[in-house]
Amino acid sequence: MAFKLSHYPQALGCDLAVTVWYHRRITIKGRSMPLPGLYVFDAYGTLFDVHSATAAHRATIGAQWEKLSQTWRSKHLEYSWIHALTGRDANFWSLTERSLDFAIASVGGVPAGVREKLLAAYRTMQAFPEVPSVLAALKARGARVAILSNGDPDMLADAVNSAGLSGVFDAVLSVRDAGVFKPDMAVYRLVLDRFGGTADDVSFQSSNRWDIAGAEVFGFRTVWINRSGAPDEYPDMPADRIVRDLTALVDAD
Ligand code: LAC
Repeated sequence: MAFKLSHYPQALGCDLAVTVWYHRRITIKGRSMPLPGLYVFDAYGTLFDVHSATAAHRATIGAQWEKLSQTWRSKHLEYSWIHALTGRDANFWSLTERSLDFAIASVGGVPAGVREKLLAAYRTMQAFPEVPSVLAALKARGARVAILSNGDPDMLADAVNSAGLSGVFDAVLSVRDAGVFKPDMAVYRLVLDRFGGTADDVSFQSSNRWDIAGAEVFGFRTVWINRSGAPDEYPDMPADRIVRDLTALVDAD
C-alpha cells in the first residue's frame, strides 16, 4: 500500500486514541483497509428526521399525518430524480414546496394554514438522538465529518443550526455545486473535489437505499442506515455495511 501521511497520525503529533484508531483496520470489498478518515453523511432521513416536521403538527393534521408525511417525502424524491434525469434545473426548496402541495391535495382534509407550518418545520427539523454523540466520537478519533445533500445551502445551514450542530462539520456540501441531484455521479465527486483523496478513503452514510446504490457505484465505502428495517434492494449495487442507526460507526467493527 502506498505510504499516506494521513494513515500515520502519530507523525503529526496526534494523541494515542487517534493513533490506535488509525491502526485499526476493516475489511471492505474483500480488502483489509485502514478505518476511514472521512465520514460523509446524507442529511434528510440520515442525520435529520424528515418525518419530525409533520409529526410536530400531527394534532392539527389528524390521523392522516403519517400518510401526508410519507407522500410528501416520496414525491420530493421523485421530483428530484425526474429533474436530474431530464436535466431540468430546480432548487431543492422549490421541490419541497411542490411535493408538499401534491401531498396535501392527494391526502385531502388538511386544515388551512398547515402548509406554511410544515414548510417552517422542515427548515428546523430535529436530528436523530444519536447524531451529536456519534459525530463527536468520530472527530475525537481524528476523523473528518461532512454532509453531502440534495438540500440547498440555506436549507442545510438552517438544519445544522437548529440541530445544534454548527461548527461540527468540516464541510456541508450541497448538490447545487454540481447542478444536478443525487444519484448523479457529479454529486459524489463533490466530496473528492473538496477533500482530495480517493473514493475508497470515504465512508458514506445514508438512510436512502437508492443513495447508497449511487455512492457504491461511485466507489465510496457505503453504510446503509436502515432505520426502518426495510428489505434490502439493488443487489447489483450492494451496501458494504447495513446497520440500524449511526451508533454502529463508533462501535467495534
Ligand atoms: C438528502 C436527501 C436525499 O439529504 O435525503 O440528500
